[in-house]
Amino acid sequence: MRNNNNNNNNNNSAKYRTTTTTKRMKPSPAARAVLQTEQKGALISSTAEWNALKEHVKDIEKTHLRDLLKDYNRCENLTLEHDGVYVDYARQRVTEETMEKLYSLARASGVKEKINAMFSGEAINSTENRAVLHVATRAPRSKVINVDGSNVVPDVHDVLDKIKDFSDRVRNGEWVGHTGLPLTDVVCVGIGGSFLGPLFVHTALKTNQSHAADAQGRNLRFLANVDPVDVARALNGLNPETTLVVVVSKTFTTAETMLNARTVRQWIIASLGKEAVSKHMVAVSTNLKLVSEFGIDPKNAFAFWDWVGGRYSVCSAVGMLPLALQYGFNTCEQFLKGAWSMDEHFATAEFEKNLPVTLGLISTWNVSFMGCDARAILPYCQALAKLAPHIQQVAMESNGKGVTIDGTPVDYPTGEIDFGEPGTNGQHSFYQLIHQGRVIPCDFIGVIKSQQSVYLKGEIVSNHDELMCNFFAQADALAVGKTPVELRAENCPDTLIPHKTFTGNRPSLSIMLPELNAYTTGQLLSLYEHRVAVQGFVWGLNSFDQWGVELGKVLATRVRATMHDKRNEGKMLDSSDGYNHSTERMLNRYLQGKAQLKYDTPSDVFPCDLINSEECRPPSSYA
Ligand code: F6P
Repeated sequence: MRNNNNNNNNNNSAKYRTTTTTKRMKPSPAARAVLQTEQKGALISSTAEWNALKEHVKDIEKTHLRDLLKDYNRCENLTLEHDGVYVDYARQRVTEETMEKLYSLARASGVKEKINAMFSGEAINSTENRAVLHVATRAPRSKVINVDGSNVVPDVHDVLDKIKDFSDRVRNGEWVGHTGLPLTDVVCVGIGGSFLGPLFVHTALKTNQSHAADAQGRNLRFLANVDPVDVARALNGLNPETTLVVVVSKTFTTAETMLNARTVRQWIIASLGKEAVSKHMVAVSTNLKLVSEFGIDPKNAFAFWDWVGGRYSVCSAVGMLPLALQYGFNTCEQFLKGAWSMDEHFATAEFEKNLPVTLGLISTWNVSFMGCDARAILPYCQALAKLAPHIQQVAMESNGKGVTIDGTPVDYPTGEIDFGEPGTNGQHSFYQLIHQGRVIPCDFIGVIKSQQSVYLKGEIVSNHDELMCNFFAQADALAVGKTPVELRAENCPDTLIPHKTFTGNRPSLSIMLPELNAYTTGQLLSLYEHRVAVQGFVWGLNSFDQWGVELGKVLATRVRATMHDKRNEGKMLDSSDGYNHSTERMLNRYLQGKAQLKYDTPSDVFPCDLINSEECRPPSSYA
């Protein structure tokens, strides 16, 4: 989708083609066919395939994973592999028959047609009238993906070329700061999808030895929360002279990001003057008009498009610019290749061999039929520490919906509550509940070759082996459990038997990667993204809008106006302000507690250095 808002970059090597207007896109015949299967009021729960699964629950309830795991053939059959990514789902409460029924459900829900519609650029995000084409952001140059009759892949590669050019120049010291120093530190200002994906990938790569070598001497930080504490932490110890700020916002209107961007802009101006902004601030956005109004030269802006959802945007300039600055563009290419490998697999593999389809169906089974409300994401790999927070947004913002794509209220639960921590840390925290309390399907994720090796003389296993022993043990502990009979045989006192019994039969799946690098991180990202889409496709949702985040934003705008007025008037709220009594009381307590703060004489205050903080401390009136 090209438009006329083209700008040349510094060396004129790339053009921006961004969408500033929303064209009406008509659903194609394929999309119409899918929509017809979702006639208003026709929920997937009314189909024979859904009801067959409901009936089948009774059969599964008679089984125990302890016994199912004794079936050699089942263990063989319930595994999948694509391009080195190995998945074992033998510890799910499913049989081969369950899987057949789930694949039938997928067919009845039009999953294949919906995947095709997505990959062919149809406006499947119908409430926003947008195509859903994050896959195009990792498509090879030779690929053709049309939106409204126009191939978007060249646009994607124009921006990637521009990222390569810019990041190379920053990294090799050709692009320097206002005072001539190289820009070694990058602060990315952005929130939600403009933060979590890039943070996840950065965290995954930073201890990989080869990627770390590429990042030597460079720092990448993120500023997301509008909390001034996050400003203090993000800027702590940084020298504006060597800092490049990347403002990342799809809309360039997100209140938190824009206030943080203004704050950091002021931090630069206070130290280096207004003229420094063009050298020290760049932007990633679909809204180049607002980028320019903000004061960032559109030549220093990196475009993306409204057909890339925020939470699906890490492969666009949103993630690629910060990651190219930190690790070099080659690393980004590897990451994109990994994601595309999984994309192609998703688009072409038959359901029975398709990793995202199978995992999506298993999650649907757990949520809709087995009554599991949550899912734990448990990487046995510290570098995947930010996977769970990222997937929280990808999954919960996508599938936390109460109506189908045509507006019909659903009569089944959708989405799940995602949470997680790196494995052994979780074991010493919330695993108690997972083993003996609630049933929470777990994703165990491990790597065969660690990014780092430690093996002490005299230890029976290396540190990574030790970690992975837990990966294997926990899945079986959940599935198999421990019976009173076994406890008695171990002479467990009778009074402790109920406490030490593990019911088992708790589902999990295990994902093993050969190692964690840019390529496999891309594969993992794409696997989860498409898995979430499959769940939404089956439930008949629009997994690509997020209206549920709007109301809070509107109410915050009203509170902001009230707070400003009351401060300046030196007054408290009363019932005439129109808030409920609870909110009125809390607001008054807050205002009273900070009664000294007035907004009419603002001055710029920065928490510039937490260690050497005397001259940087805010005046007491701002405490
Ligand atoms: O939380 C709502 C949301 O719109 C997310 O979907 C998005 O990732 C985030 O805000 C940030 O939006 P933007 O990139 O436009 O600043």
